[in-house]
Formats: sequence, structure tokens, C-alpha cells
Amino acid sequence: MSSLITSVRGRRVWDSRGRPTVETEITLADGKTGRAIAPAGASTGSAEAVDRRDGGAAFGGYDVQGALAAVNGEIADVLAGREVCDQAALDAALVALDGTPNKARLGGNAIVATSMAIAHAAAAAQGLPLWRYLGAGREDYFLPLPEVQIFGGGAHAGRRVDVQDFMVIAVGAADYAQALEWTAEVYRCAGLLMNEAGLLAGVADEGGWWPAFGSNEAALDFLLRAIERAGYTPGQDVAISLDIAATDFGRKGEYTLARDGRRIDSEGLAEMLLGWLARYPIVAIEDPLAEDDAAGLRKFTAAAGDRVEVVADDFICTNAGRIASAAAQGACNTALIKPNQAGTLSETRAALEAARAAGWHSIVSARSGESEDVTIVHLAVGWGAKQLKVGSFARSERMAKWNEGLRLAEALGQGGGRLAPRQSFPWGRK
Ligand code: PGA
Ligand code: ZN
Repeated sequence: MSSLITSVRGRRVWDSRGRPTVETEITLADGKTGRAIAPAGASTGSAEAVDRRDGGAAFGGYDVQGALAAVNGEIADVLAGREVCDQAALDAALVALDGTPNKARLGGNAIVATSMAIAHAAAAAQGLPLWRYLGAGREDYFLPLPEVQIFGGGAHAGRRVDVQDFMVIAVGAADYAQALEWTAEVYRCAGLLMNEAGLLAGVADEGGWWPAFGSNEAALDFLLRAIERAGYTPGQDVAISLDIAATDFGRKGEYTLARDGRRIDSEGLAEMLLGWLARYPIVAIEDPLAEDDAAGLRKFTAAAGDRVEVVADDFICTNAGRIASAAAQGACNTALIKPNQAGTLSETRAALEAARAAGWHSIVSARSGESEDVTIVHLAVGWGAKQLKVGSFARSERMAKWNEGLRLAEALGQGGGRLAPRQSFPWGRK
């Protein structure tokens, strides 16, 4: 079946931080359309596809007129008349057109919105929901286990605490819907506890409670109490996961813990985190050391990788080659997969396949700057990623994703909310 692209339109829309972003809409000869919106990060890895911004005075320099001109000009010209169902060829054409290693010329935001819009249009052309189009050939669909922020810190909360994400994973939940129910109770109870302690001060960038704590450990203690207050057994029912986002406060093996008022080296940070792993029911820890600290990541993975997910975000930037090399050197054991770090869906898919080939898990992830776009939920389900990370359990740019998962579970029919088996996670093998 042939479905040719007749028009490609880039329009400026607004993200969850109130900043401009790129939406691409693709129209086919038969009138079907597909559209997608580029997200944006705040704690970015240096090897990410470039989020192209105009600079200047308007909107704090965050305007995207240059990226939109690329979509409406060069990109539209290259895609016009092409077959929409050949994602690989169209993504390759976008990469070649850009011509830079990091998509700086056209803009990673222009390219990722377009690449995702192509997939939406192709699915529409075939009369399939996106997850099924992406999962072509697969039969064993399951839902990703939600990893949900309860307190937001680091760059998302004015560095109020050093750790960026204090999250929970409902490791004991029977299915996706129950994982959301348990998470909702923990989120609510964390708010109640904050209120009782006089610490309630709104929410951070991704909807997690604003971390008005005196130390990183105080946040961990509160999280533990919130799980208990909600009636769950920490570790058994609901476990803790952290994104340290250490690239934000460390360089060349030196780390500055602003909240704890300390400077420590790579070994000191690793020791502190291993101490947390011993004292708290933590099952996943992301970017425990900075992106330039491969030796530290190797040592940390050797010490903890048998029982927790050591998640690589900034270190691999959703890049297949980087994942293969990280795995070969024993640094980390789980890949965070963010389409806008790679720039195209084909490269994102290649990163996920590289993780799989290395025996790693994959966590499909949103960014701190998000929108109503739910493409990543379809990627997670279609491509069989075991986990999904989209920020907290509040604000509609986050809830849009969690809720889309409920719809996909229902679309899968009886037992459709099934999660990947517990034994397939490092914590389930303990
Ligand atoms: P970002 O943070 O979207 O602000 O980069 C998310 C993360 O570090 O995982
Ligand atoms: Zn991260």
C-alpha cells in the first residue's frame, strides 16, 4: 500500500514549562495525518542531539523559529512525495540532510518532531494504532512498569537537593493499573506528610513535590515513610529508585554536594550511594556518577549491578554505539531511552536494540519539558521496553502518558495490563 507525503508543516506550540517547542504535522495524499511534539531536557548529556533555539530576547532565547523554518523549508522539500511507511529511509534522509554529527544544523527538535510525526502518519495510513504499527511482527505485548517521581530535585527544583529524582516503582503490583493505583496512594501520602511537617511548597518541574528538605537522606526517609503511610511494604510492594543526575554537579571525578555542603571525589560519591543502597529499598539508580566518569561507573556497576539497575542516561545519550561500548566495559546495565536525545525514531530503536543485544534493560523516558504528546508510551509498548519514566503523578503532560498506558492495556484485551515478569528485573532475582 502506497501512502505518499503531500505536506509537512512545522508549527510553534508551547511546552509544560511555557516555552516554545516544535510540532510537526504530516499530511498524506489520502488526507490522513500524523503529528508529534518535540520535548526538551534541562539536565542534558553532552552527546545529545542539539535542541536548536534562536537565542535573543524573545522567550528567554528559547524560541524555535530557526527549527520551524527548517521543518517548513528543507525538511518539507526532502519529504514531499516520499513513501511515509519507510521510516528507516526517511530518518536516514533527515540525518543526511542535516549533515552534522549532533543534528545542530536543522535542530534535533525539528528532526525528532518530524520523525515521530512520520510514524504517526504511517500508522494512520495503515489504519493501526501507533503501538501496533511500531510492534509489527510482535505478539507478546506487555505494559511497561511505571517509574514515578515523588520528589523532584536537582536542576528541576533550583538544586534544593542534589538528587534530581526521588522515584518509586510498584515492584509488587499485579498489573499496570495496580502499579498506578499504588503510585497514586504513595504520591498522595507523601503530600500529606509534607503538609503535616510544614514542608509543603508546591511541585517541581516534573510534578513531584518540591523537596523542602535539609538533606538528601531526609528526602529518602520521607519517601520511605510515604510508602508505609500508604500501607505498602517498602521494597516488597513499592521500592525506591533514584536519578542522581551526577553530571549536573560533577566534573573530572570531583563532585559538589551543594545541599550537604561537601565536595567529594568519585569514590566518595560511590561510597555514599552504596550506603544508601544498603539502608534503603532502592532498586534502580540512574547516572550515579557523571558522564565523564567512566571509571567510576564501571566500579559502581561492579559493586551494585547484580542487584539494582544502574541506569545510563547522560553517559549513553540514547546512542547505540555508546551503549555497546558502555556494556563492553561493564559500565551500567540499563539504558534510558529518550527519542529526542537520538533525534530520530530509527536511531532510538537502534539504541534499544543495542541495549537488548548487550543484555541490558531499557527504560523509555520523557523529558522535563513535555507536552500532551504520548508517542513514547506507544514506543514502550510497541518495542517491548520493560519500564517507563515520565516524571510524577501530577500535571497533565505527565498524566497524559500514564493514562495512555491504561488505554493501551485495554486495547490489548484480556490481561492486557500485564507487566514484564518480576524475575526479569535485577531486584526480582535477588
Ligand atoms: P531532563 O531530565 O529531561 O531535564 O534532562 C530527565 C533525566 O535526567 O532523566
Ligand atoms: Zn536522568
